[in-house]
Amino acid sequence: MTTRPTTIAGVGLALRPPRAEDADALGQLVGDVDRSHDVVAGWVRRWERDGFGSWVVAVEDEPVGFVGVRPREDDIALTVRSTPAVAADGRARAALRLAVADAIEWLPDVPLRLRVAEDDPTTRAVAESSGLVHVPEDDHEARGTRWQVLESPYVRTFTTLPPRARRSLVDLWVRVNDAGGAVGFVAGAPREDVEAEVERREDGLASGHLRGVGLMTPAGDLVGAAFLRTPTTPLQAHIRSVESVMVDPQRRGASLGRHLMAGVHRAARDEGVEILTLDYRDGVGLGQFYAKVGYTEVGRQPGVIRVAPGDDRDSVLLWRRLAETPAPDQTGAQEEPERR
Ligand SMILES: CC(C)(COP(=O)(O)OP(=O)(O)OC[C@H]1O[C@@H](n2cnc3c(N)ncnc32)[C@H](O)[C@@H]1OP(=O)(O)O)[C@@H](O)C(=O)NCCC(=O)NCCS
Repeated sequence: MTTRPTTIAGVGLALRPPRAEDADALGQLVGDVDRSHDVVAGWVRRWERDGFGSWVVAVEDEPVGFVGVRPREDDIALTVRSTPAVAADGRARAALRLAVADAIEWLPDVPLRLRVAEDDPTTRAVAESSGLVHVPEDDHEARGTRWQVLESPYVRTFTTLPPRARRSLVDLWVRVNDAGGAVGFVAGAPREDVEAEVERREDGLASGHLRGVGLMTPAGDLVGAAFLRTPTTPLQAHIRSVESVMVDPQRRGASLGRHLMAGVHRAARDEGVEILTLDYRDGVGLGQFYAKVGYTEVGRQPGVIRVAPGDDRDSVLLWRRLAETPAPDQTGAQEEPERR
């Protein structure tokens, strides 16, 4: 049986559920120690009731911040607060990224929204680097403050590609290739070649061997895609291979890859899948990315990918058990030269 993780390990921090004794530290953070006991007691109750809720950002188990997670009628409201030191060294951003990916993978499938005071560019930058996008039509004024609303990307699976979606996928794939992405082509590959590959994928979608996973902006634009392939032998009905993981090259490093993989894991788990495998082309830092989302290297075929004459790369086989709770960022210690 798969259980949702209740602690998420990051680099130099962890997200864990709140405890009553966190109240003083969290109260000092927001400058309201009196009220914080009630607030934290409410958080603890919500975790007990729903099995999820606001996270405490902890360093060596001591609270240094929180990521508020509050389900509302039609969305989940996020907030992020941390000590200045944790905000300054990027760990507040890391905490929000982990919380958003966790929500995409496990929480009710509703928009995740975070509101930021107009005069708070620091929090807005943290939110944007965690993949959230400003949705200006949701901006509003409340209690004398102008608020901007940012929303997370969302994940949709697909088994057909209507013409507009097919065009968006081909556009994305071509841009990813041209930016040096390792998704079956080299930079400058003709659009027609990508179109032909997408057509083959459509055959796979139609026959049920493939399932597509798309990552969309709040406005519905495709910014990431991946495929889950079902092996042909019934002996492997419990596994899928993950293929063609790609995000908009203009938005790399903004956590979209992490969120896309969270959606891939959710989609696979929904089908009862227990194990995922994946091949990647060595030499572009992908090992570090996949280690951060829970994969372990289990094999390597030296030199089988010829990117150009004299530039042969290894094909690396990765594996992840979905039923287990990985400690994602702890595995990120496997170093690999970055050639992004
Ligand atoms: C691989 C890819 C999907 C990652 O997406 P992304 O949005 O840039 O990655 P994220 O911002 O979610 O990164 C998640 C973590 O992995 C790390 N990471 C991502 N790409 C990395 C790289 N090339 N080298 C080292 N670390 C990397 C990030 O630093 C981040 O760590 P942090 O959260 O601790 O800061 C994206 O770079 C891509 O589309 N590449 C081209 C296509 C491709 O080669 N796909 C692989 C097919 S096997």
